[in-house]
Amino acid sequence: QSHLLGIEPLHPVEITALLDLAQDYAEAARAGRRRWDALSDMTQINMFFEASTRTQSSFELAGKRLGAEVMSMAMQSSSLKKGETLIDTALTLNAMRPDLLVVRHPNSGAVDLLAQKVTCAVLNAGDGRHEHPTQALLDALTIRRAKGRLHRLTVAICGDIAHSRVARSNILLLGKMENRVRLVGPPTLMPAGVSDFGVEVEDDMERGLKDADVVMMLRLQKERMDGGFIPSEREYFHRYGLDAAKLAHAKPDAIVMHPGPMNRGVEIDGTIADDINRSVIQEQVEMGVAVRMAAMDLLARNLRAARAPQGVMA
Ligand code: CP
Repeated sequence: QSHLLGIEPLHPVEITALLDLAQDYAEAARAGRRRWDALSDMTQINMFFEASTRTQSSFELAGKRLGAEVMSMAMQSSSLKKGETLIDTALTLNAMRPDLLVVRHPNSGAVDLLAQKVTCAVLNAGDGRHEHPTQALLDALTIRRAKGRLHRLTVAICGDIAHSRVARSNILLLGKMENRVRLVGPPTLMPAGVSDFGVEVEDDMERGLKDADVVMMLRLQKERMDGGFIPSEREYFHRYGLDAAKLAHAKPDAIVMHPGPMNRGVEIDGTIADDINRSVIQEQVEMGVAVRMAAMDLLARNLRAARAPQGVMA
C-alpha cells in the first residue's frame, strides 16, 4: 500500500503483518525502549482539521520515537482562516517535501481526495463518518492481546453506529478476520443498509450483549447529528449505557472497550470504565502509539522501495 486511507482495501495478511510489527513495538516500549531509527530519513506532517487528543498525540509520539522530523500544523491559526482551501493547503505543505502526511478532517472522503493530490504517503486519522483505520487496528491489537486471537469472537459494538467512523472501520476489520459482529443501539442511530455489512443488529442491550467476548461502547456523536435525533442523556443511559447489570449478559471474561473520548454516565458507567479487571480502555491508548509506529514504518518501507532506482537491464 502507498497510503493508509481505510481498512476496506487491506487484506487480512496485511492486517496481521501490521499487528505483528505493532506488537513488537508495544513490547519493546513496555521494556523501556523509546528510540528507533526507522523514520530517521523521513519528515512527517500532522494536519488535524478536527479536535483530537489521542490520535494526534500518539501519531506525534510515534513519529518522534521512530526518529522522524515531525511537525504538527496548528490548523486553527493557518491560512485556512483566510479562505485557503483544503487542497491548496495540502499542496503548499506537499511542496515542502514531507514523506508522511497524517490527516483528520470532518468531511467523509476528504482524506482520499487529498491523497490523490500529493506525492507523499497519506494516513487517514479519521474522516467524517467514513473511516478511522488506525483506531480499528489498535482496537484489533488490544483484542488480540486480551483474547489471544482475532477470529471467531463475538464483538458487540454499541451506541451511535450511524455517525461513527470507528464503528465502520471496526466492522470492516472484524469481518475480514472472521468474527461475529453485533451492532446494538436505537434504530435511529443505525445507518441505512447496515445489514449489507454482514452483521447482526439488535436494539436491546440484553440481547445484544448476550455471550459477547468483547463489548465496545461508542460516544453519541452530537457534532454529526445535524440537529436531528439527540436523545435525553438520562433516558439514553438507562436503555443503552453500559452498567454492571447490562454487562452481566456478556461472557464473564468479556472485555470492555471505548475509543474515547468517553462521556461517563451517558454511554458508560464510570465504575465500569475504570474497572481494571474488565476495561482495556487505557491499553487501547497504549496500543495506539504502537500501531501508528507500525503503520508509518511499513509505509516508509514502501516509499523507499518506490523511490529506489530501478535496476539496469543487462
Ligand atoms: N479515538 C479517537 O480518535 O480519539 P481522539 O478524537 O481524541 O483522537
